Formats: sequence, C-alpha cells, structure tokens
Amino acid sequence: MLNISFGCIEDELQRVEEHFETNLATETPLIYKVAKYVISSGGKRLRPLLLIAASKLCGYTADAHIPLAAVIEFIHTATLLHDDVVDNAPLRRGKPSANIVFGNEASVLVGDYLFAKSFKILSALNNPDIVKAYSDATTLMAEGEVKELVKTADITTTEEDYLDIIVKKTAVLFACASQAGAIIAGKNDRYIKRLYDYGLNIGIAFQLMDDALDYISNEEFGKFIGNDLKEGKLTLPLIHAIKRASEPEKDIISKIIYKKKLAKRDLKTALDLVNGYESIEYTISKAKDAVLKAKKNLDIFPDSEYKISLMDIADYITERKL
Ligand code: IPE
Ligand code: IPE
Ligand code: MG
Ligand code: MG
Repeated sequence: MLNISFGCIEDELQRVEEHFETNLATETPLIYKVAKYVISSGGKRLRPLLLIAASKLCGYTADAHIPLAAVIEFIHTATLLHDDVVDNAPLRRGKPSANIVFGNEASVLVGDYLFAKSFKILSALNNPDIVKAYSDATTLMAEGEVKELVKTADITTTEEDYLDIIVKKTAVLFACASQAGAIIAGKNDRYIKRLYDYGLNIGIAFQLMDDALDYISNEEFGKFIGNDLKEGKLTLPLIHAIKRASEPEKDIISKIIYKKKLAKRDLKTALDLVNGYESIEYTISKAKDAVLKAKKNLDIFPDSEYKISLMDIADYITERKL
C-alpha cells in the first residue's frame, strides 16, 4: 500500500470506493463477481488519488471529482483485465489474476463492460472537455497495447519505440487523471497543460519502474520476475542492454526472446546481460528524470497540502516495490 499520508483527501477516497459499489450493481452477477474481485484486490488507487488531489489543488469544491475518480479506476481495471489476458499473467496484486480465476472470456467481457460503463457515467456529467480527455486517453491506451503487441520479440525495438508505447499504454491515463482535476475546476489551458504534463511524466516514470521491477522484483511483491521476457516483451532494461551487446550476445538474446518456455538458465543469461550493461540503473535513472520533470510542472501552483500530496506521489513512484 501507499506509504504516504493523504489525510486531506481520505474522505473523498472513501466516497470513490462507495461509488464503485453502486456502479457495479447489475442484473448479471458474473459482472459484479469479476469486477469486484479485481477492484477489491488491493490496488493502490494512484489514479483516483491524482485526480482528487489535482482537483483540490485547483480549488474545486463541487462533487464531480468523485465519479470521475471512480471512472478513472474503472478504466484502469478494464485495461488490467485485458492486459492480463494478453500477457498471460498468472498474478495480479499478488493474487491469481482474473483470467486464471474466471477465464479469459470473462476477463475480456467484463473489461468491455467496465469501459462501456465508464463512458455512460462520464456522459451523464455533461462536460464535453471531460469526455474528450477520457476518450483521447482510452484510444491512445488501446493503440499503445496494440503497438506493444506488434513489437513483441522484435529485437530492433528502439528506446523511442518503447517510450511511445509506454506513453500511450500507461502515461496518458495518469495524465488524464490529473488533467481532469484542472478541467472540472474550470482552470485555463495553461494550468490544464501543466497538470497533464505532471501526470504524463508520473506515468512514464511509473512504467519505467514497473519494467525495471520485472527484472528485480520477486514474488513477495506480487509479481514473478522475468514475465516480460517470457512474453517476448522488450522493455527498456533489455533494449538498453541489446544496444550495447556484442553480436554473439544479441544472437543469444533473440533466441531467448522467441522461446515460449523460459528455462531458469535463460533468465539468468538475460539478467547477467542486463546487469552487465547496468541497464536497470539506466532505466531507474530515466524514471528519476521523469519524476523531476513531473514535479517541475507544479511550480505555477500555490503551495498547499494538495501540492505536497502530488509531490509525495511523484517521489513515491521511484521508491515503490510493487
Ligand atoms: C499497473 O498499475 C499497471 C501498470 C501501468 C504498470 P498499478 O500498479 O497502478 O496498479 P494497481 O491498481 O496499484 O494494482
Ligand atoms: C501495463 O502494462 C499497462 C496497461 C495495463 C495498459 P504491463 O503489462 O507492463 O503492466 P503489468 O506489469 O501487467 O502491470
Ligand atoms: Mg501486463
Ligand atoms: Mg501488458
């Protein structure tokens, strides 16, 4: 869980949780069962936190931030349901993922339901700028996931390709969350853009850390090490190492990347390469750069407890283990 104090917005986070419950009540019990399983499995609620803190930072005092925060988590949950099917992921948040418990079919369909429900809730808020922000983000996210699929096992994937993928699949949702806070508060474009860029850089840092953790984390943190490699996913640690590798090393890596079943020694070979070229350090340093960029965007906002929360979230990104 997050080791940051959010005293100032704890009540609103509780209201977001209640909103999940109301919006998952359907005539079809399987929807509730699957969605509830994922939503209640210990997510960090980072995106709702960003949205609420950003709206308060901008002086927002009405109530739309609650459904907006619930929707941002619904969209996040829908992408996780789909992503775990695509990635054949056995674990999510340290527990068997929904695809393992309920099957791929239920995961895909309930993910669809959550997307559809999200836009139903959004459209009821009668704010075209908000609908645009959310639909731009979800369209790019889908594109990012598809681009990642296309690049599977492609050892010519560059750092630029990778950055484009992570901006789309992950960072734009963080950007949407913090930007939405400024939009509902009626701030002008300059402030909206600052909060968008804050969120975008948080998201970039977040995915960079996620990809570094895939090489250094362990089951205790709720993930198996090497899942990206097993799925043929080239993330920055490996891209960085491949760029520096000798021809024979590149040959070895392409063979490993194509393997459907990863032996322990394959993982060790990849880890040795990634460690040898200090590629995890490189990835983490890129994440730290993005965190600094994120924080810089807050300098035009007056000091407040909400600004401190947003700064703390930024710092947390490169400290997290999960
Ligand atoms: C996981 O996001 C998906 C990525 C973008 C890497 P989070 O780590 O924010 O997911 P939960 O909701 O806290 O589990
Ligand atoms: C997360 O991608 C981004 C989305 C869910 C869209 P990953 O596949 O890298 O995330 P994890 O590692 O499964 O959480
Ligand atoms: Mg995944
Ligand atoms: Mg994925």
